[in-house]
Amino acid sequence: TFTPKAFVEEIVEEMREKIKGDKVVLGLSGGVDSTVAAVLLNKAIGENLYCIFVNNGLLRKNEFESVLEQYKGMGLNVKGVDASARFLNELAGIEDPELKRKTIGRVFIEVFDDEAHLIEDVKWLAQGTIYPDVIESVSVKGPSATIKSHHNVGGLPDYMKLQIVEPLRMLFKDEVRRVGATLGISPDLLGRHPFPGPGLSIRILGDITPEKVQILQDVDAIFIEGLKSHGLYDKVWQAGAILLPVNSVGVMGDERTYEKVVALRAVESTDGMTADWVHLPYDFLMKISNEIINKVKGVNRVVYDISSKPPATIEWE
Ligand code: XMP
Repeated sequence: TFTPKAFVEEIVEEMREKIKGDKVVLGLSGGVDSTVAAVLLNKAIGENLYCIFVNNGLLRKNEFESVLEQYKGMGLNVKGVDASARFLNELAGIEDPELKRKTIGRVFIEVFDDEAHLIEDVKWLAQGTIYPDVIESVSVKGPSATIKSHHNVGGLPDYMKLQIVEPLRMLFKDEVRRVGATLGISPDLLGRHPFPGPGLSIRILGDITPEKVQILQDVDAIFIEGLKSHGLYDKVWQAGAILLPVNSVGVMGDERTYEKVVALRAVESTDGMTADWVHLPYDFLMKISNEIINKVKGVNRVVYDISSKPPATIEWE
């Protein structure tokens, strides 16, 4: 059976021997895997681990600032790089979901590459790859291969010639969480819902503008905070909001409005391959819907997604 404590001791020793006095660069995403990988490596090699946390402008509201603070509080040697403007510029006018993904993947690599070059004499690239990622990348390529293509920091340009180190590559997700807990990582970080690499870009159907990102961040924050304060967050595997590319008629006082529609999505799943929509309480949905419409300017209608996967997917794009 798997013992997190024994695993930590062994892998830390193994990493130390392997890496010796070299420098390692690692991309933090705010997710569980990259965080646990970073804390393990930090334990093994300390300041020789250089973490980079990129803000692509498509994270949740205040996520960049708050997660960066958490990382620093954990003693990680981390640099926050705010590349929001660069990402949003490159994404301007793009409507096709796959092109959004490709663009974000490319810009991420460019930004990460620039940053990695600032670290003198870096020899290793660390990744938070876990066992299911390993299996997935050797199995037949389906749409999920594209999905994972920029999930972790894979595919850096060849000339960087970095050696790869993946401390979690033999672990399943629940084992990663147990290792994280043994390492003292906070339960709220370990219990975070999965969040796609391309972030809110694939939850804004159609083209992306800074205004739309802000609207969606506000809606999403109300939904997620609401789930937490009602004790529902941990009962849901993944939740988020989607900004639809349609306006609908509404009424506010004596005025007719013509504003945006948002969809809320919450699913139960074990691995994201199949998923059922969660039967959130009507009272909760009513409260959240009112709060969104009252507080977020530009939204006059909220709908709840009652589709399961398959045949629907979790994300709308
Ligand atoms: P779908 O929409 O395919 O999502 O049912 C399954 C899981 O994968 C996540 N997802 C992504 N993750 N890059 C990622 O890193 C992507 O392009 C991407 N697309 C979907 C999705 O959030 C869900 O957890």
